[in-house]
Amino acid sequence: MKISMKNSLVVVAMAALVAGCSSVKVADFDSIQLYTLKNKAGMEVKLTNYGAIITSIKTVDRDGNMADITFGYNDVSGYMNAVDKPYFGAVVGRYGNRIAKGKFTLDGEEYELATNNNENHLHGGKIGFDKVVWDVEIVNKNTIRFTYLAKDGEEGYPGNLSIAVTYTLTENNELKIAYHATTDKATPVNLTNHAYFNLKGEGEGTILDHELMLNAKGFTPVDKGLIPTGEIAPVAGTPFDFTTAKPIGRDIGQKDQQLEYGGGYDHNFVLNKEGQDGQMILAATAYEPTSGRFMEVFTEEPGIQFYCGNFLEGNLVGKSGKAYLHRGGFCLETQHYPDSPNQPQFPSTILRPGKAYETLTIYRFSVR
Ligand code: GLA
Repeated sequence: MKISMKNSLVVVAMAALVAGCSSVKVADFDSIQLYTLKNKAGMEVKLTNYGAIITSIKTVDRDGNMADITFGYNDVSGYMNAVDKPYFGAVVGRYGNRIAKGKFTLDGEEYELATNNNENHLHGGKIGFDKVVWDVEIVNKNTIRFTYLAKDGEEGYPGNLSIAVTYTLTENNELKIAYHATTDKATPVNLTNHAYFNLKGEGEGTILDHELMLNAKGFTPVDKGLIPTGEIAPVAGTPFDFTTAKPIGRDIGQKDQQLEYGGGYDHNFVLNKEGQDGQMILAATAYEPTSGRFMEVFTEEPGIQFYCGNFLEGNLVGKSGKAYLHRGGFCLETQHYPDSPNQPQFPSTILRPGKAYETLTIYRFSVR
């Protein structure tokens, strides 16, 4: 089935793509779909309501050639079965990144979350938002909204959390991701998207030659388990200084305890906010010299996790049959800092009843 109009939303049923997932209920089989947003410039973004995942982003290089620049699979089973849970393109939550030992205290009550990353809680737990089927609303020809109700107690979190993630592809080659959530009990919330990018094209070698700028004078150092120590350290004079664009690979081989703990870059950068919290700023840019592709990330969040695919080992083969190499893709996950529920000095991630969690991230693509 294909409902297609020029410059419009194309809906393609993904029924064929779930063959072999016999553990999934029939209702879920029927409800997993693939959606395509296309703009007049020809940029195309594919999304599925399984995990609210971005499965594909096609943009032109400086010669006008299209390539898919984000990691993913051609079928839902790929996402369900990927070893080492890479979270390709998914919305992660209820809490993006780690919460130490899966524990936190809120309003005098101690909560215990599912632990799925050694002793820690990562990206929402065992069945995070990346592994559930979301409801879908086609808002207009450029915009699609995924909604999900995370139940009180799910993965150990308090409160029924009602979430909406709205993706818009603009005529300026921007992919806007608007997050919205409300709760009936106080709960931590930290939503982000875990897309991996390689601006040469997915599966085209490593990203070490991409020139990255991070608008951050500080970062949050971590311990061996990748839990922040609580300190905000200056990047100046360290391999973490991306305040002026430099190739990702330039300093990654330096002897540095933080690089050692992360196996490379896998850190939260503290964004330079001059005004009040919640203002939209340019957080990061990435440039790939051979294709000329340039990417900008804007966010209202106070932090960004720069992860350069250190856990990829080349054993995952993506949608075009190419292996995703060690450091074959990078993620720029806009977020609040990891482990904030246990770090009172970090900006708060607690959402209370009667308030709305609202945050916008924009990925903008162009060529240079
Ligand atoms: C995040 C984490 C990494 C890793 C990836 C998923 O970005 O910070 O440590 O767990 O997700 O592989």
